[in-house]
Amino acid sequence: MPTIISVTSGKGGVGKTSMAVNMSLRLQDAYGPTLLVDSDLLMADCHVLLNSQPSLDLIDVLEGRYEWPDAVHILDNGLSFLAGRTAPNLLVETNTDRLTKLLTVLKSDAHGFDYIVVDTPAGSGVGVLNTLSVSDHMLIVLLGQATSFVDAYALIKSAYLERQLTSFAAIVNIAKSAKQADLIFNSFSRTVTSFLPVEISYKGHVTWMQDIVSSSIHGGTVSGVASKARIADKMDKILKSLLVMSPVFVTTEPIIPQAFSV
Ligand SMILES: Nc1ncnc2c1ncn2[C@@H]1O[C@H](COP(=O)(O)OP(=O)(O)OP(=O)(O)O)[C@@H](O)[C@H]1O
Ligand SMILES: [Mg+2]
Repeated sequence: MPTIISVTSGKGGVGKTSMAVNMSLRLQDAYGPTLLVDSDLLMADCHVLLNSQPSLDLIDVLEGRYEWPDAVHILDNGLSFLAGRTAPNLLVETNTDRLTKLLTVLKSDAHGFDYIVVDTPAGSGVGVLNTLSVSDHMLIVLLGQATSFVDAYALIKSAYLERQLTSFAAIVNIAKSAKQADLIFNSFSRTVTSFLPVEISYKGHVTWMQDIVSSSIHGGTVSGVASKARIADKMDKILKSLLVMSPVFVTTEPIIPQAFSV
């Protein structure tokens, strides 16, 4: 069964997509066959960071025009990618149950993926909460800002009250140092756990990285040997803590998904 990691935050613009994309690329390169799902259907942009323009996407699947394997795009390093598309609000709302069903099927059936990474939208809407409830790891991206704390708290509160979820993971993005990230996480965790009966485990931090900025500006994956090594090192530290494992192998063959109906 694949491990589903959803990358979420409450607040927008904190680095969810950057984290989901770089984590997926690293998982595929060094841990096992991975599928990245861009579930941010209001502002889908994983494909921009991957510099890929799949002709079919998640909306085609959720609307029943295609089965999900038809819409999976295999990237150069073998990563399987189910792209999002910026869709009208109404359409996104009516498809939240289908997205949950798709993730449930992907989780329960063996399709050859070891990992499924889901980039979620900002906020704590029904679609986000549904996604969190079928995930093995809910990875909250935090910034050292009051607005990030407030929005992440609101997300955890909704996940607890509406879905009875109690176990969360968090990373601190754009931290100045490991020490500052620790302080930010501890402050957040103390506040949340003094009001809600949940646990939040700390999975590490990412500093401000020119490599990530350049990838956003140019619309492409982090390239260059040194840049890739820097990102891989950051991702490995987080993945080691999240999955309690180190890189295991380098994938050579991409997964060819088998058809089934959603
Ligand atoms: N560690 C980092 N160092 C430098 N810049 C970063 C870092 N992480 C994210 N950014 C930048 O922050 C901006 C927002 O990142 P991103 O799009 O990944 O956030 P998001 O949480 O997915 O946003 P949204 O809520 O709109 O989906 C981008 O310009 C990205 O390059
Ligand atoms: Mg995003």
